[in-house]
Amino acid sequence: MTVVETELVAQPLSVVVREGSKAAHEQAEGTSFMSELLEGRLTEQAYADYLTGLRPVYEALEQVGADLAGDPLVDAVRDVALERLGAIDADLAHWGRHATPGLVSDATAAYAERIRAASAWGGLYVAHHYTRYLGDLSGGLAIGRIVGRTYGAGPEALAFYAFPGIEKPKPYKDAYRARLDAMPLDEGQKARVLEEVRAGFALNTAFFAELAARLDTYRAA
Ligand code: HEM
Repeated sequence: MTVVETELVAQPLSVVVREGSKAAHEQAEGTSFMSELLEGRLTEQAYADYLTGLRPVYEALEQVGADLAGDPLVDAVRDVALERLGAIDADLAHWGRHATPGLVSDATAAYAERIRAASAWGGLYVAHHYTRYLGDLSGGLAIGRIVGRTYGAGPEALAFYAFPGIEKPKPYKDAYRARLDAMPLDEGQKARVLEEVRAGFALNTAFFAELAARLDTYRAA
């Protein structure tokens, strides 16, 4: 670890994961697939493939979370109000017909595998939980508004971005961060959580790169 990293892991966990993943976040945000999707330049097929690709990730997150229930680290973050698999399936009932037939994402299969391997320690699971769900409650909500506007999609096709069990994202995220900070982890363990958060971001970026390889197909005429 560099001096900066050593100082970082002395901070509360919520600071460690936020500050420690800033560069990885910027990289994910700046990928050509995400930028073009958010500029409204891609067809419905692109969004349908994106959503289809994410399904195995949430399937693994929610299955492993259920398997690890009772682990104090996992119980501190787990919340049915966050779960997205049902919402994705509801959305796919609308988007599924636009998806590329037979397309399977190698990137998100690998991501789901990494989440399954995180069942080895609750802290690793927390890393993946944080990376996806806190992202969904942050930039994810803006992405939902843009997708709705771009494709003229209504709430029935945008359940992924609706959290009926969460009244306001900001206080929810503050409480979530407080629960991260209350976890009894030493600096080595916090460093391991951060490493897993970074791995999660890298897997998301790999998924976007995989989709970017199909941009010619996805660009609206
Ligand atoms: C174009 C794509 C993206 C945009 C526009 C975006 C935007 C944002 C914004 C504006 C915030 C800060 C919100 C706040 O302070 O309340 C945020 C936070 C976050 N984003 Fe993203 N994001 C994107 C992609 C991603 C991806 C791919 C991931 C990982 C899967 C991710 C994970 C997170 C996390 C974990 C946070 C919470 C940081 C913290 O406070 O600890 N984001 N995002």
